[in-house]
Amino acid sequence: MNSTVSLPSPARTAAATAPASGPTPVATAEASLAQRYGLDSARIPEHVAIIMDGNGRWANRRGMHRLWGHHQGYRTLKKVVRAASDFGIGVLTLYVFSSENWKRPKHEVEGLMHLIEMAARNELRELHEHNVRMRFTGRIHELPESLQEVIRHNEEYTRDNTGLTLNLCVNYGGRTEIVDAARRLVEMAARGEITAREVTPETFGSVLYSADLPDPDLLIRTAGEMRVSNYLLWQIAYAELWVTEAFWPEFSEAHLAEAIRDFQGRTRKFGGIVNS
Ligand code: FPP
Repeated sequence: MNSTVSLPSPARTAAATAPASGPTPVATAEASLAQRYGLDSARIPEHVAIIMDGNGRWANRRGMHRLWGHHQGYRTLKKVVRAASDFGIGVLTLYVFSSENWKRPKHEVEGLMHLIEMAARNELRELHEHNVRMRFTGRIHELPESLQEVIRHNEEYTRDNTGLTLNLCVNYGGRTEIVDAARRLVEMAARGEITAREVTPETFGSVLYSADLPDPDLLIRTAGEMRVSNYLLWQIAYAELWVTEAFWPEFSEAHLAEAIRDFQGRTRKFGGIVNS
């Protein structure tokens, strides 16, 4: 991370940034949605990461099975992907299945794997039509073979899309990601491709799973828990955190707007100082 940073400019409305003369800028969908929520469309976070928590509790409180909560969570996910794209967010990273979630009862794990595969198959066409690029992050090679095939297909099919990047973390753990990166560097060192002195935050970052994506600017967690649960441990070093009591099935476009508004009101220093 740079020691000197250019800090975000003070909050401005999109209208206030319009040139004094000349043609009025075309009102983009992003600008109009941002304006509807009173947000600065010029300062939408580039990368938003979400820990989608509370599906099980939400279902149990309604006397329903946890898997029903996950199905409702999938409905929310679709709405939030659409909202993220409409707000003009560049990358949306979602914690779908952690490397620790295998500890759950077998039928819940199987139900989740089935749901993820079904969703990946069913949503491909619509996501592609909306110019969404799909990414999957985690130890993908440990997933069921049929799911791996869908993942490879979806990534390939949408690779040239230039809109929202939807990064789904499946069988993902921050510690295993860091361990896998360390292993890659050790292997590179054994081949004489890197020396110990060349291991820096930059070279380390370059062998992480999503090395090509920017670090998250904003990390959202639902269901009120104040922890990061092994999520993007390296990448969230300077992310702004925002937690809501809402369970994931209750999360909406309005919650996302509230998180962005809060984000826009913060001063990011990245370890530096702010010049007034
Ligand atoms: C955490 O809630 C949620 C998960 C472990 C799964 C997330 C999955 C989805 C949102 C649905 C499907 C996703 C796709 C891509 C189709 P929890 O069950 O741990 O909640 P709890 O803390 O209340 O038990």
